[in-house]
Formats: sequence, structure tokens, C-alpha cells
Amino acid sequence: MKAHQADDLATAERLYREVLELRVAQPDALHYLGVLCHQNGRSDEGVELIRTALQVTPRHPDAHNNLGNIHKECGRLREAEACYRKSLECSPQHHHALSNLAVVLEAQQRPLEAFDAFEKLLKAAPRFAQGYYLLGLFLRNNAQGIEHIEQSVGCFREAYALEPRFVQALEALSVSLYTLDRRDEAAQVYRDWLERDPDNPVPRHMLAACGGTDAPERAPDDYVRDTFDNFAESFDEQLLKNLDYRAPEVLAAALATVLPVPGASLDILDAGCGTGLCAPLLRPHARRLVGVDLSGGMVKKARLRGGYDDLEVAELTAYLQQHRQAWDVVLSADTLVYFGDLGPMAAAAHDALRPDGWLAFSLEVEEGDGDQAVLSSSGRYRHTRGHALHALQRAGFGDIRISEDSLRKEFGQPVRSWVVLARRGGTEAP
Ligand SMILES: C[S@@+](CC[C@H](N)C(=O)[O-])C[C@H]1O[C@@H](n2cnc3c(N)ncnc32)[C@H](O)[C@@H]1O
Repeated sequence: MKAHQADDLATAERLYREVLELRVAQPDALHYLGVLCHQNGRSDEGVELIRTALQVTPRHPDAHNNLGNIHKECGRLREAEACYRKSLECSPQHHHALSNLAVVLEAQQRPLEAFDAFEKLLKAAPRFAQGYYLLGLFLRNNAQGIEHIEQSVGCFREAYALEPRFVQALEALSVSLYTLDRRDEAAQVYRDWLERDPDNPVPRHMLAACGGTDAPERAPDDYVRDTFDNFAESFDEQLLKNLDYRAPEVLAAALATVLPVPGASLDILDAGCGTGLCAPLLRPHARRLVGVDLSGGMVKKARLRGGYDDLEVAELTAYLQQHRQAWDVVLSADTLVYFGDLGPMAAAAHDALRPDGWLAFSLEVEEGDGDQAVLSSSGRYRHTRGHALHALQRAGFGDIRISEDSLRKEFGQPVRSWVVLARRGGTEAP
């Protein structure tokens, strides 16, 4: 277990298996080996091992909770809910089971029951910082009025007061303050944070996002790495934030209108592949499917999910510049929102595509007729239609098609997005 906690999974697995050779049904070895198998991408084996452990010790709240976590992370929310409920039958105050239950109820769009679970959680564990943080996110994601955003501010402050190293609570606090138009307070959160931790790229970028300093041309590499390495590990948050996330499906459907019938014939790059949600949608078209992303944590998750021929940890513009005329399709889902000026990326993508190759990507909408990219308080950029169009035209793309859709929700509201397709060497759109 020490090796497991130290992330030395190979040693831990060998030792758990040695224990099981000595005692076939040793429940802790079965249970923790199950958790480890899931961490290594062998989730079905993990489920079987924990189920076997539970035959030996059927009233083990942690084992039920961990089995629930595997189901949750595999997207089986109903099964996860049942496991958390069993854990709570064994130990009604189990605060991880309570907070996990709240998360899966919210993800199943059952906000009243989720709120009830959060209430029980904070009664059972009034000093559990993560509980306040998750409740704050819940209130903001499901806000029916301004009072819920105000309450989220209280939750994030409480989470940070209870756990001063819990910097995600600070970021969440500032976003809520900004949403309430308390911009000076929002910027002050980052100034204070930067004073304590001057080299941290997160408050540096977010201070710019609050208008406290000039916006950079795109989110700095160290900010992206830091943010997404943390994000990769916090699946709970990912579930919460990804409510109604549709960018991969919508981009794949747009591409399907211009690509030949799927015949595993194209070389495709998933630029900013994240945890690999696009892979199963692109695979039927791909002879070779490569993912590239700045965050090693996200790439690790993508590797576990499978579906790529190759995965690389790299900055995508630089990667495109190094692979000229290498791709029939370059797709970038919900990633160029970390870019301000799209010009350098568009030029690199144009040169990386083969003649008649397609570029497909999504952006968030900035209103207006001009040519503008605006850094917003979330740390992401919004683009006008004109900006996307001009950047692509200047790079030499033709056949440019820009439509509007909503690809995810934020604070309970649909986020307006651009879905963009452009062809290298195509004809100009009228
Ligand atoms: C919101 S996620 C989307 C991931 C994936 N495309 C999806 O749809 O699930 C954005 C991803 O873009 C990556 N990213 C942002 N800027 C990048 C850059 N300049 N180069 C490479 N990856 C980048 C982040 O690390 C993150 O994994």
C-alpha cells in the first residue's frame, strides 16, 4: 500500500499479487489491486476484483465507494450511485461517499437530490474543504439567480479558509466574483495569491483574464500544463464542468459532411487531444490517428482510453510547424479557446495539411462585426466570426464554413460557440 500511495504501481501490483498467492481471498489486496487495475486502464478487471473483495467483506464502505468511483469514471452513473448508497448503508457519515453521491446525482441532472446530498455531507463533515468547494461549483453551475452565485462565493471562501493549500478554491472564488461584476475583488484574489507564490503561472494568467494585466497572445504553456495536469486528475470536476459537453460529436458530424465515407484512409491529427474524447469518433476515418497535447496528465488519460496510433506531449503550433503536409485532417476541439490571435496556428495548420485537407475546430463566440479575440475571466478567449475568417483567409484556406452552436454549459447556461471548417486549397467562400 505504501508503494501504491507513492504511485509506484508496478511494485504495488507485484506485492498485492504475492499477498493473493498466500491468501487467495485476502480482501484488502483484492480491493486495492482492483483500484490499481483501474488506474492502469484495466477497469473491468478492477470491478471484478473489488466485487470479489466485497463477497468476503460485504459491509466495507471504502470498497463500495471505490467500486462506485470506477463506475463513475467509466461513465456508468447509475451503477456508481448504487455503490455510493451501499457505502452509506454501511457508514452513513462516509463523507467521500456522500460527496461522490452528490456529484453523480448532479451529473444525472437531479439537482434537488444532489443538493440534499451536499447538505447531509456538510452536516456530517463540517470541516471538509472539498465539500464546500464542490457545493460552490454546484451552486454556480445550477444557478437560478444571482443569490446562488453569491452563495458560491461563501462556499469557496470557506473551502480556502479550511484548507489554505486548496488553490482551486481561490480560482473558483475569483470566477464567481467576476461573474458578480465585483472585478476589483476578483483581481485582488489573484494579486494576493501571486504575492505568496510569484512563479505560479495560474494566478499570473488569471490576473490578466480579470483585466489586471495585459492579455498574452495565447494562454502560456506553463499555465495550460498546470491547469490541465490538475484537471486530468480531478474527474469529479471534469464531470461537473463537462455537463452537456458536445464539441467532439458536433465537430465529428461537421467533418463527416465533407469527408469521404469512413474507410480508415486518412491521416488525422487531434490537436489538443486532452483525455482523448475525440478518438472513437475519428477512428473510423483514420488510417493513422495521432493526438498531441501540452499536458502530460491529459495525454496519460488519453493513453489509457486508447484509440490513437501515437500520442505526443507538445505545443500544438510548434508540432504543426514540424509536420508539413503530413495530415489529411487536423481537428481541434475546445482547444483554440486558449489562443488569442489565431493567425500563427492557422498558418501552421495550413502548411501541415496536404492539399485539399480539412481543418476543423471550435471557438467561443464574441459578439460583433470586427476582427477581435478577447481574453475572458475564465482564462479562455472568445473570438468574433471575423477574426476566425480573416485568420483562415490570410493563411490561405478556402471553403471556410462557420456556423453557430452550443457545445457546453457554463453556470447552467449554454455557451455560444463557433464550429469552423476550412479546406487547404479549396475555393473561396462567397
Ligand atoms: C478543454 S480541453 C479539450 C480536450 C479535447 N479536445 C476534448 O474535446 O475533450 C483543451 C486541451 O487543450 C490543450 N491545450 C491548450 N493549449 C494548447 C497548446 N498550445 N498546445 C497543445 N495543447 C494545448 C490542453 O492541455 C487541454 O488538454
